[in-house]
Amino acid sequence: MAEQSKKWILMVTAQTPTNIAVIKYWGKRDENLILAINDSISVTLDPAHLCTTTTVAVSPSFQQDRMWLNKKEISLDGARYQNCLREIRARANDYEDEKKGIKISKNDWQNLHVHIDSYNNFPTAAGLASSAAGFACLVFSLAKLMNVQEDNGRLSAIARQGSGSACRSLFGGFVKWVMGKEEDGSDSIAVPLVDEKHWDELVIIIAVVSSRQKETSSTSGMRETVVTSALIEHRAKEVVPKRIIQMEEAIKNRDFPTFAQLTCSDSNQFHAVCMDTSPPIFYMNDTSHRQVVLTSGWILSCVVAYTFDAGPNAVLIARNRKAATLMLQRLLFHFPPNSDTDLDSYVIGDKSILKDAGIQDLNDVEALPPPPEIKDKVPAQKCKGEISYFICTRPGRGPVLLPDESQALLCLETGLPK
Ligand code: DP6
Repeated sequence: MAEQSKKWILMVTAQTPTNIAVIKYWGKRDENLILAINDSISVTLDPAHLCTTTTVAVSPSFQQDRMWLNKKEISLDGARYQNCLREIRARANDYEDEKKGIKISKNDWQNLHVHIDSYNNFPTAAGLASSAAGFACLVFSLAKLMNVQEDNGRLSAIARQGSGSACRSLFGGFVKWVMGKEEDGSDSIAVPLVDEKHWDELVIIIAVVSSRQKETSSTSGMRETVVTSALIEHRAKEVVPKRIIQMEEAIKNRDFPTFAQLTCSDSNQFHAVCMDTSPPIFYMNDTSHRQVVLTSGWILSCVVAYTFDAGPNAVLIARNRKAATLMLQRLLFHFPPNSDTDLDSYVIGDKSILKDAGIQDLNDVEALPPPPEIKDKVPAQKCKGEISYFICTRPGRGPVLLPDESQALLCLETGLPK
């Protein structure tokens, strides 16, 4: 490498989805390696609507490892970044591109610096799990750049050390994070259960809640729960293992009633252990509670499931398009946008559901009739402005490489953000 021109820059761009847990991970048995106290299961969300794109570059001309996130430079000093970088470098292999005059031997990677530029296609302020897609994309793209030969399961064990939930973003469809038993975390990996085509009828609508108080981070929240909650051990040892088996079965059989019942119960129990933490942690707020009440009828008729992560946003999973269309009409009836918001920015993602619902503009929203279940109970309660926007999406695929250089976030000449 030494005798080569110092000018070359080698670059890889990848795109990785985010995921939402239907059986929650909450609590660690090892803080540094990020090892969970129970298995968890998630659904990967369509990257067309929610994903991270990351470009990683290497060059002998780079002076230090640097990273930009959503256009701002951030520090890579944190242990989580350092652990991921170290683990990937340790698995790097020889790389050669004769045409470009690039030759990197296995050991060179230890001394070569990388530039990383990462971008989320959804607002960070939305409080959606951006660290899951972010660390998955960092690890996946670095692994491709450094010619790491390991499969996505092995890569998931590295992404896990960036953020626990990130390991599940290495696959599409439904994914299980097996907590593992080994002290070194080598068996704590993500495994794909079914791909995104297996249950493609499902429609997922995320209601991003407007007013957000300062929330406890997942990392510190779960630490406090493990130390202070008397219920968490019962959840991890007795409840979750049974639910994991039932959930796997429900997913395999596309059994929506069982799936919905388990999803809602597990979300409820996660928030119950948060409340059992001292001092208690409240992630759901009044708007979240209203969403639960609103959806309870549909949950009883087994067409919708809800789940809430470490924040107030509702993630609503509809059995099929018909259920999603009816649900969106009711959501828009009860949670209309503020008058200064246009429909195009109020319902984002897969807008075809809006079309199915016969809604083209705000006049159509205002003209929505009261849902039949509340017809007699006028005036209907309207919670204008409580939701910032809805994201319509579906189960999606796992990470992919973006081979087209025009999609790279870093400039091939300078190695700096475009
Ligand atoms: C409520 O993966 O964000 O979303 O491992 O400390 O980075 P760290 O936590 P994180 O926690 C996610 C918690 C959750 C449930 C889940 O995704 O399973």
